Amino acid sequence: MSLLSRAKKTAALCAATAAAAATALVAAPSAAAAPAPIVGGTTTTTTAYPFIMQITDASQNQFCGGTLVSPTKVVTAAHCMVGETTSSVRVVGGRTYRNGTNGTVSRVSRIWIHPSYTDATNGDDVAVLTLSTSMPYTTASYVTSSQTGVYAAGTTARILGWGTTSAGGSSSNQLRTATVPIVSNSSCASSYGSNFVAGDMVCAGYTSGGVDTCQGDSGGPLLIGGVLAGITSWGEGCATAGYPGVYTRLTTFSSLVTTQVNS
Ligand code: ARG
Repeated sequence: MSLLSRAKKTAALCAATAAAAATALVAAPSAAAAPAPIVGGTTTTTTAYPFIMQITDASQNQFCGGTLVSPTKVVTAAHCMVGETTSSVRVVGGRTYRNGTNGTVSRVSRIWIHPSYTDATNGDDVAVLTLSTSMPYTTASYVTSSQTGVYAAGTTARILGWGTTSAGGSSSNQLRTATVPIVSNSSCASSYGSNFVAGDMVCAGYTSGGVDTCQGDSGGPLLIGGVLAGITSWGEGCATAGYPGVYTRLTTFSSLVTTQVNS
């Protein structure tokens, strides 16, 4: 798949998601969010966050993020892997800049997509990649299935990625990070209606918007207390007031992920 068609695929998924969410609501979202990074954070480096991986095409053009959880296993979003094959993707570690050539590039020997995955708004948005080459970077630990208390509303979570710094904008050349508060299930359900599947998703963001993940951040980590607890999945636009970012609720999938990590 060409970069252009991959970019279109991602945009289409996020646009379709937004349209589906909007039709579920009485009130229309407010005007386009102001430009901000990842939307609203600061630049950082893969030295500071060594487990963040670029997921790229065969030409090393980044299109999603991922998290290194063992030297040869990367957790990402299922929607990032739709239409991909072990020959179409690469995982790049230790590369702070999208246009860098440094770090470690690995081919992928296996792509596991949650078998029930259909669309990000239906949940099950999790995939595990097996790398052909071990990554010499510190891995992230991830939540266990019993740690459901980590998602208490108001808890600070960290997001990371190379995605666009505004909805419909350009990707960031440098890795960015921001912190956002976890949003309660009831509040997120009022934003997104039936597209919010509480067992499979968790929301994070400010009521006023302004800080969020955006296109190209998908698959990357949502960290709580430094532990991988979510996967960037979808949202209505980016950083829109009243519409927090939606992340895969990793406690729900932790055992399945562990089976893949140990396989
Ligand atoms: N679906 C987008 C992607 O593929 C990520 C969207 C995240 N959106 C948000 N508002 N938090 O990159």
